[in-house]
Amino acid sequence: MAKYKIAWLPGDGVGNDVMDCAKIILDTIKLDAEYIHGDVGWQFWKKEGNPLPDRTINILKETDCCLFGAITSKPRDEAQKELAPELQNKGFVYSSPIVGLRQLLNLHTNMRPCKAFKGNPLNYRDDIDLVVFRENTQGLYAGVEFHPVPQDVFNALMVHPKMKKFENVPLDDLAISTRIFTQESCQSIISQAFEYAKKHNRKSVTVVEKPNVIRETSGMMIREARKIAENYPWIELWETNVDAMCMWLVKNPQDYDVLVASNMFGDIISDLAAQLVGGLGFAASGNMGDNYAVFEPTHGSAPKYAGQYKVNPTAMIMSVKLMLGWLGEKNNADRLLQAISTVIKEGKTKTYDTGGNNTSLEVAEEIAKKFEEL
Ligand code: IPM
Ligand code: MG
Repeated sequence: MAKYKIAWLPGDGVGNDVMDCAKIILDTIKLDAEYIHGDVGWQFWKKEGNPLPDRTINILKETDCCLFGAITSKPRDEAQKELAPELQNKGFVYSSPIVGLRQLLNLHTNMRPCKAFKGNPLNYRDDIDLVVFRENTQGLYAGVEFHPVPQDVFNALMVHPKMKKFENVPLDDLAISTRIFTQESCQSIISQAFEYAKKHNRKSVTVVEKPNVIRETSGMMIREARKIAENYPWIELWETNVDAMCMWLVKNPQDYDVLVASNMFGDIISDLAAQLVGGLGFAASGNMGDNYAVFEPTHGSAPKYAGQYKVNPTAMIMSVKLMLGWLGEKNNADRLLQAISTVIKEGKTKTYDTGGNNTSLEVAEEIAKKFEEL
């Protein structure tokens, strides 16, 4: 029996292309693993009314962790139109499978390293090396939303004086998305950011919220951050509002080490941070729970490039690196990072986004070759 069982979920579009690249790397590493394919994505929504079928969830439950490619997501009404005719009007409602997976498996922590590799022509600056910790199951992503607003929900909200101005709005004309935080999850994401900073000798942790306006939820994050920071007196706690953070990330990105934010703000700043180091082709992420994790490139499914092996596989291969680290395969993880860095530094094999004309597979093969030489 193989040492690891890994769920293999390529998903949609270029998810398949980059997962083929991941396989080249894992075969070179000779990781003692069994890979179990799972169905996920748009085609399963269209023909089954569920982009994340139960059989896939069962695979996840039997495996140690999961590698995930990319997913096509569309807003509710567009999704509805693409549903097979026989499934129309049967109550199927589209929701993002990656968000679903995070909820279902309680993958509470999303870690997104954004490091400028030397020699990457797309770097905004060459000295950026930051990591975003994003709370991954709560906040605006918890899915507690209403439209139309039920009368009892409306009545309950009316206890708040600030609801007065909505008093005469018809329930049909009101849409509400809640932002729910628990103290436990604030503590957890902040502790992990600090633990990461401690382990990797980082000098600061920046909590990115907006407590001057979103007093209760952002306020709770800041309060917990201040308490936890006391246990790490050698690490500075910086508090920055999310809007200002966007400005500072463009102005002085090299000053930042570890950023920590709630779900939506973490989503936003992680795209910004990714662009500073070459864009989504370089951005990897780990969705981690207590006993399970899903690793995925941050990019989408780029349908227009599907099957062309054109996109940059670095984000996917970096996700493999994160997975290896999480599995405890430290040597393999370090060696893979070095192989990726070397290929980027040499700049001989590269995809179109960085000015080259190699295929995704050729880049993966070059990284695999470097891995073997190290
Ligand atoms: C991400 C993505 C997802 C998110 C989408 C695809 C639902 O943007 O992983 O950052 O919003 O979390
Ligand atoms: Mg995002």
